[in-house]
Amino acid sequence: MPGSSGDRQEVRQEAVGRLEFILAGGHMTDSTGKTAQLTIDGKTIDLPVLSGTEGPDVIDVGKLTSEGYFTYDPGFVSTASCDSDITYIDGGAGVLLHRGYPIEQLAEQSDHLELCYLLLNGDLPNREEKDRFVNTIKHHTMVHEQLVQLFRGFRRDAHPMAIMCGVTGALSAFYHDSLDIDDFHHRVVTAHRLIAKMPTLAAMSYKYSQGQPFMYPRNDLDYAENFLHMMFATPCADYEVNPVIARAMDRIFLLHADHEQNASTSTVRLAGSTGANPFACIAAGIAALWGPAHGGANEAVLNMLAEIGDEKNIDKYVKKAKDKDDPFRIMGFGHRVYKNYDPRAKVMQQTCHEVLGELGVEDDPILKMAQRLEKIALEDEYFVEKKLYPNVDFYSGIILKAIGIPTEMFTVIFATGRTPGWIAHWNEMISGPYKIGRPRQLYRGATKRDYVPLDRR
Ligand code: CMC
Repeated sequence: MPGSSGDRQEVRQEAVGRLEFILAGGHMTDSTGKTAQLTIDGKTIDLPVLSGTEGPDVIDVGKLTSEGYFTYDPGFVSTASCDSDITYIDGGAGVLLHRGYPIEQLAEQSDHLELCYLLLNGDLPNREEKDRFVNTIKHHTMVHEQLVQLFRGFRRDAHPMAIMCGVTGALSAFYHDSLDIDDFHHRVVTAHRLIAKMPTLAAMSYKYSQGQPFMYPRNDLDYAENFLHMMFATPCADYEVNPVIARAMDRIFLLHADHEQNASTSTVRLAGSTGANPFACIAAGIAALWGPAHGGANEAVLNMLAEIGDEKNIDKYVKKAKDKDDPFRIMGFGHRVYKNYDPRAKVMQQTCHEVLGELGVEDDPILKMAQRLEKIALEDEYFVEKKLYPNVDFYSGIILKAIGIPTEMFTVIFATGRTPGWIAHWNEMISGPYKIGRPRQLYRGATKRDYVPLDRR
């Protein structure tokens, strides 16, 4: 934890222009003094057992390679890939802490940009630090004007996640002045740029699909308001931001901000471990997030509800989800880590009711179907036994639909919210000693054989 003792506490504070800015590094895991013993072919290997500040102890298998063995763990189900101080999840108890603070308290009392500061710096800002940070982010929201040309190269019907992968990676071609990953100041500016510009790029990808002019960001609006303005205003008509919707949008960003070593964050770390520039690493994270088993699930929830079509078909689809021979799954249910209610889903559910009430759309047939599906699945023995609860994506999709955001944009919004988490993890890794990520394999292919010339095959 920041502030507690550790071998490698590397919190650095430097002046950046007129800003005091901190980027927090990580701690080394403490040895418990315990060892695990592995006996193979009569030979015993002692493996150190390490302990974090929370969560189960881990067995350090690093020296197994020198003994001639690798561990085998497809899907990294039992593997801790790094040390981290940023986020802690207890999936069994349904707990999510960012730098020690419970997500419920952050959702209730904080806001997305404050959480960004917390993730990056390790501690909550005081009033002055917060104002400076918010002001800095507001002054980085515009993107290079030439990026407009890049957008125009995409087909109008391109999926906005395809555009986001491209334009985020392309930022490295526009911001050469902040690409030195070993330079602390470059890393700070890049963190600011990415957090500030992601909503702008996200809204541009939507406007492009609609054939509408891009809307410039407005510095008088806060983070979520500005995003809604860039999405829904046009040069002909301003968009009046409803405070309940703006608060819900901010919560959606906040609830997605980080989730420790999930697939996209691990992708960002892996790409970053090669020394690749941060814009390229975040583009890799966006690509990983796109899949329906990860961030694409919020879009998949709405597509699934459209496929179910009517409340009377729900039982049929629940039956399909339980059939081992049918690949169909209830999207927005289940989680690799949570075997309890996802704490983010609880907050999201409450926000969902607030938004539906505010907009007076509680009778929307799709939304009613979602609520019915949730109730049935929560009571069904199969889901109860397998501890499959609604996850954050189940409700975020419903809220976003009610706000009027098209389904293809849902994962883009997830990516926008997750950006500070990706950068915080990338920075944590770069700030300390790290190795290139290079997993091994259990090879099951052909053994050595001689090449057969084409005329003899
Ligand atoms: N509907 C029906 N059955 C399910 C579901 C579901 N949504 N999720 C898991 N199961 C079953 C699965 O078939 C398996 O059964 P069995 O033990 O009989 O083989 C068991 O539950 C365990 O599932 P798993 O696939 O081994 O678990 P996992 O940890 O590898 O996968 C998951 C987690 C999220 C990929 C999976 O639950 C899933 O595909 N859910 C639907 C997609 C979804 O909502 N994804 C968003 C995840 S949360 C947002 C994020 O972090 O990105």
